[in-house]
Amino acid sequence: MEKKQKLYEGKAKKVYATEDPAVVIIEYKDDATAFNGVKKGTIVGKGVINNKMSNYVMKQLEKAGVPTHLVEELSNRETVVKKVSIVPLEVIVRNVAAGSFSKRMGVEEGRELLSPILELSYKCDELNDPFINDDYALALGLVTQEEIAIIKKYTRKVNEFLKKYFLDVGIQLIDFKIEFGRLANGMLILADEISPDTCRLWDVNTNEKLDKDRFRREMGNVEEAYQEVFCRLGLN
Ligand code: TMP
Ligand code: ASP
Repeated sequence: MEKKQKLYEGKAKKVYATEDPAVVIIEYKDDATAFNGVKKGTIVGKGVINNKMSNYVMKQLEKAGVPTHLVEELSNRETVVKKVSIVPLEVIVRNVAAGSFSKRMGVEEGRELLSPILELSYKCDELNDPFINDDYALALGLVTQEEIAIIKKYTRKVNEFLKKYFLDVGIQLIDFKIEFGRLANGMLILADEISPDTCRLWDVNTNEKLDKDRFRREMGNVEEAYQEVFCRLGLN
């Protein structure tokens, strides 16, 4: 499988066409942005870590009954995936209060939530990914009722899998964001990535942050944190 023309370049990945119209090649970059691209930087080695971690997780999720875009890893930074049109929703799960939830609700970061929260944002850079709910998504035709039910079912499975996956290596899954895509036949599958860019991951003993918040908040040791997660998961 070979890369042909570049179809799209996002903040953290490039997408290339291939000879097969049903699949594309994703290339993970070391570029990092935060606050909708306002803060820019590089996290050396991130592309490799995010590629390999995302692929491992998606492989396991497939086995657990969540269909994903994964076809095959091509190299350290490149993966062949099924071509989808991305559903313009950021699907967020929160197990512990942090980030924008803590700010909005006035709840200290680290407070255990009594039940997981499934939250939606409208993926739209111009509007800064506004917080929405199911009714907004349905009313605007972003998804159908059937699709939202499937998205919720898969998302709950992803949370159950990820919580255990990380806890087994001493990491608490605070929250995460996932995205779904539609195949040409309309089937919904998990797409995008699952990585320390898109999850909040805290050491269970020290609460040390092992994710992109270290970059967002200028905490230092960003590369080391990504590497730590990668090594603990045995993916290095
Ligand atoms: P938030 O607390 O800032 O809303 O973030 C919730 C989760 O979503 C957190 O794990 C980080 C992730 N996230 C992304 O993956 N991309 C984004 O653009 C944002 C804002 C958050
Ligand atoms: N990836 C997002 C951006 O720059 C934000 C984030 O992850 O915090 O826009």
